[in-house]
Amino acid sequence: MFPPGHSRTLDPDASIRATDNDAALARLSAVQKGYIEDPFVKHLVPRAHLQPARPPLINIGTFVRSHGIDLLVEEWLLMAKASGKKAQIVSLGAGSDTRFWRLETGTLKDEFVKYIEVDFTEITTKKAMSIRKSKEMNALLGGAQVSLNYCVLAGGGTGLRSSKYHLIPADLRAPPSQALGSTLTSIEADEGPVLSPSLPTLIIFECVLAYMSMEASSTLLEWFIGYASSDAGVLGCVIYEMFNLQDSFGKMMVNNLKARSVTLPGAEPFPTLDSLVKRFTDVGFSAGRALTLKEIKRTYVDQPELERISKVEFLDETEELDLVLDHYAISWGLYIGNGSASTWGHWGLKQKRD
Ligand SMILES: C[S@@+](CC[C@H](N)C(=O)[O-])C[C@H]1O[C@@H](n2cnc3c(N)ncnc32)[C@H](O)[C@@H]1O
Repeated sequence: MFPPGHSRTLDPDASIRATDNDAALARLSAVQKGYIEDPFVKHLVPRAHLQPARPPLINIGTFVRSHGIDLLVEEWLLMAKASGKKAQIVSLGAGSDTRFWRLETGTLKDEFVKYIEVDFTEITTKKAMSIRKSKEMNALLGGAQVSLNYCVLAGGGTGLRSSKYHLIPADLRAPPSQALGSTLTSIEADEGPVLSPSLPTLIIFECVLAYMSMEASSTLLEWFIGYASSDAGVLGCVIYEMFNLQDSFGKMMVNNLKARSVTLPGAEPFPTLDSLVKRFTDVGFSAGRALTLKEIKRTYVDQPELERISKVEFLDETEELDLVLDHYAISWGLYIGNGSASTWGHWGLKQKRD
């Protein structure tokens, strides 16, 4: 028998990839309890019906995180529509996320032409297989020519490519101009590049950048800005992450993860909301904004929705909930290329209450 943690020592990224399972189980639990709707997540979690529910505190956190990011994505698509352009979405470290399928079955499905997901090869291989196995998910891939090989890269069955949805295996820490950049800029038959630099593009990092060094994530963000600026594009970026890790609760979060061999090199440099905003402006975004989940729940969720989720489960640890939600933030940054409409400056979460 191998001692516990043996395989992680052999592959230091195994513990980072394992965080995808946590995210998927948290989402599944929030769905099963009725906090959020997602008919697709069950196809990506093995033995979904046997998975135990998460505590109310985790379910509410999952609701606020998901709701906040959904609002930013929806507004991006609506603003693209208003500007007369189709949008593109790139989800980096997408893991078992199902946003593509939720959007593709919603009212905004015609407002985006590309949805690209990137993750480690082990994750994209597993996801590609689960998608192919699910009639429901497979049917929504768009375009007749779905290929299981991501042929720009070596290896078979490691991703998926259809006309709209692309699942790309890549290590986000690698120099972006190599694996990821060359795939995104490669020309598709009779079409332009996989990712167009001139269309309004939203990049999403949902609980991903914490696992990478700040240098690697800055280089990646700079690559996307450089690409958008090459053709007067508009680039939005949504980052969801733990932060504020220097207080006693934050230290406990860090230690809990350390016990599972997960370190957070990309979260430790961001002790405050201001530092999260500065991350955007430092790499060339025109503006940025950051809010804690606590603030988003308090002020940015519609009253009826807030009342609905307060009735889903009984929660007596309201102070603990606030403490947890205060250590996670959604931040968003915007880059407006020369010649793009300044109305994009209105993109962001909107207050529902004072
Ligand atoms: C906590 S999970 C979040 C998954 C998904 N974004 C969500 O919110 O449901 C983190 C994901 O980031 C991926 N990831 C972390 N570092 C990565 C890297 N350097 N390259 C590619 N993927 C990475 C992991 O494999 C994992 O799927």
